[in-house]
Amino acid sequence: MNILLIGQGGREHAIAWKLAQSPQCETLYIAPGNAGTAEVGVNVTLDVTDFEAVYEMITEKEILLVIIGPEQPLVDGLADFLRGINIAVIGPGREGAQLEGSKEFSKAFMERHNINTARFQTFQSWEEGFAKEYVRSYPLPVVIKASGLAAGKGVVICETYEEADETIEGMLSGGWFGLSGKTIIVEQFLKGIEMSVFALSDGKTYKLLPNAKDYKKIGEGDTGPNTGGMGAISPVPFADIRLMDKITEKIIEPTFQGLVHDDIPYCGFLFFGIMVSEGEPYLLEYNCRMGDPESEVVFPRLENDLVELLLAADSVNLHNQTIKVKEEACCTVMLASQGYPDQYEKGKVISGIHDSKDVMIFHAGTKESDGNILTNGGRVLAISALGKTLNEALEKSYRAARVIEYEGKYYRKDIGKDVL
Ligand code: AMP
Ligand code: GLY
Repeated sequence: MNILLIGQGGREHAIAWKLAQSPQCETLYIAPGNAGTAEVGVNVTLDVTDFEAVYEMITEKEILLVIIGPEQPLVDGLADFLRGINIAVIGPGREGAQLEGSKEFSKAFMERHNINTARFQTFQSWEEGFAKEYVRSYPLPVVIKASGLAAGKGVVICETYEEADETIEGMLSGGWFGLSGKTIIVEQFLKGIEMSVFALSDGKTYKLLPNAKDYKKIGEGDTGPNTGGMGAISPVPFADIRLMDKITEKIIEPTFQGLVHDDIPYCGFLFFGIMVSEGEPYLLEYNCRMGDPESEVVFPRLENDLVELLLAADSVNLHNQTIKVKEEACCTVMLASQGYPDQYEKGKVISGIHDSKDVMIFHAGTKESDGNILTNGGRVLAISALGKTLNEALEKSYRAARVIEYEGKYYRKDIGKDVL
């Protein structure tokens, strides 16, 4: 069958790479894709906010399955539109996507369904005074979050009450994040270690995928500003059966029961961002999609035929599927552009991609031009490798990271070190 995958990052390259391995996949289209996805499918130009155009493409290319990679089209209701025209689609509708699109919604959902999460309170734009007063009932640091989507920048960890006041003003006035910040969450700061857990749901049953740990900060030793993610590992060494059972019991089960109870259909990936604090798991956030760069370590470890799995999810038959995971460890090291996550240059020629052995190179921000592959984003290439041990996987990724060259190449040299 012909398949359409929406998105353009490393996550989409990893998904495309996995889909293309299925005997059921005839032509795989990626909109818009990047230079990497062009190696496993056909990149197409498509404005995903224009549902008419999406309809035309699906008809013209005889597409039977659509996978929506990023959150924005899900929050915009693209999955509802596609289900309305009887296309198999992976990704929740607008309502389910609110789990990511609105922290006001997701925190209320967590509270309603008794899901372990940090203590919090929600404030609206006219409640600035109350918010500033309330924030002082928490010890420092205190966390302030914009409720809506803010491209990963909507969480501020405030070290002083003055910084909290400034953040509250900046967000509630609409100055910092527009409408997304006009509702905020003031939240208890949790100290601990983070991990990502992934489920695929068909609305009735869910299956857990391999878990992962993401390295969000730009600098070594987890310093500096947050990025989209500078590397990842799977499995998470400290996530033993006891911890995973707790996560299932206190977070995952009540989530899927809550969705059924609230009558929110959910077919797609659900990503649980978890903080483990003194052995107790807390849910920091939901994402209504796979993670990036976590996808670049999760899909290489998945043995199942992904097309078969996704079709089972779409037809509410996931109960017949067993997730098979490779024993090997996987890591990914992200090569970025100098200056990211702030200003950086694009259009640098990349060399050495095809000289790298034993690795899977997923393109995050690249484009093809006159036979060259050029940098085209802050995050450029995710270099994934499997190994009998995490150490072995890391050695392979780092070897390739040294071989690949472009002006302004930057990467963290300490991925996985904290858990080895
Ligand atoms: P979120 O978008 O809610 O996942 O937040 C982004 C990042 O901010 C998380 O990955 C954490 O590193 C951090 N963060 C969010 N909430 C908290 C919290 N309550 N305590 C400590 N760190 C947090
Ligand atoms: N790696 C975190 C995310 O995809 O949101």
